[in-house]
Amino acid sequence: MTGSYPNTRLRRSRAHGWSRALHRETMLTPADLIWPLFVTAGEGVEEPIATLPGVSRWSVDGIVARAKEAAALGIPVVALFPNTPRELRSDDGAEAHNPDNLMCRAIRSIKDACGDSVGVLTDVALDPYTSHGQDGLVDDAGYVVNDETVAVLVDQAVNQANAGADIIAPSDMMDGRIHAIRMALEINGHSNVQIMSYAAKYASAFYGPFRDAVGSGGLLKGDKKTYQMDPANGDEALREVAMDIAEGADSVMVKPGLAYLDIIYRVKQRFDVPVFAYQVSGEYAMIEAAQAAGIGDRDALVLEKLIAFKRAGCSGILTYHAAHVARLLNG
Ligand code: PBG
Repeated sequence: MTGSYPNTRLRRSRAHGWSRALHRETMLTPADLIWPLFVTAGEGVEEPIATLPGVSRWSVDGIVARAKEAAALGIPVVALFPNTPRELRSDDGAEAHNPDNLMCRAIRSIKDACGDSVGVLTDVALDPYTSHGQDGLVDDAGYVVNDETVAVLVDQAVNQANAGADIIAPSDMMDGRIHAIRMALEINGHSNVQIMSYAAKYASAFYGPFRDAVGSGGLLKGDKKTYQMDPANGDEALREVAMDIAEGADSVMVKPGLAYLDIIYRVKQRFDVPVFAYQVSGEYAMIEAAQAAGIGDRDALVLEKLIAFKRAGCSGILTYHAAHVARLLNG
């Protein structure tokens, strides 16, 4: 016999389901997921969000029900975002410091009902509270001023931690805020409250449906390019991550997700810190649009994208599909 056969047949290991299972390099489980939830005023309220089909805003009672559902599904963390009533929004976003604002009421209610069975992650940024939709305080020229904003974000973070938040997630992209928030948490007795920094957050066109969900889209004047990152930059993301780790972040996030897999990979290769991806609202909406248009299968699309995040090095993923995916994975 002569050598007319390949020495190696990679297809051999792919030939059977059991073999594909045995050789699988990356796993996705419900414990990899963080479920973002939108809080709205009232009681017994569910408001579907037109640009995020399948996602609703819930009043606090509904949010508690979702948090219990998360725990039952094995999802370890829910992330909260408030749709602040219009009349409570102001230029300085003062409602962010109200200990009885929607966020704090939702945090307290979840912690009362669920205890340690689910963690609560809270976004730190002013955009759900400002009348101009920017993440910070603006000067007369419309510029988001850094240091004054950091001082306000510190108060917002402590307010959330006082209400029982487990993970503080600053999404504002101001310089120096991780250090300032870490110090304030320590001083206020919250040494075990974690910080997951949105370290590499890009000025992205994929956030549209989220801004509808928290009601800031119609209010936003201009864009966020003076603080969120330029999509053309990768090295700069590594500098952002290095700074946030040095300032005390427990974990970092890259956002959006799929268009930034290279950033996730580079961060993971360079630093030994847990990395999370935020599969943002526009990414969710595109999958739903593909399903609705008959050009892709939702479940297959979502599972393929989420495993890609794990393969790139993510410890976990924030996704609006979290509950749906957990149900799929739990069979
Ligand atoms: C607020 C914030 C945004 C998102 C998360 N936190 C919007 C923005 O920066 O304008 C977007 C999330 C999504 O699109 O799903 N700072």
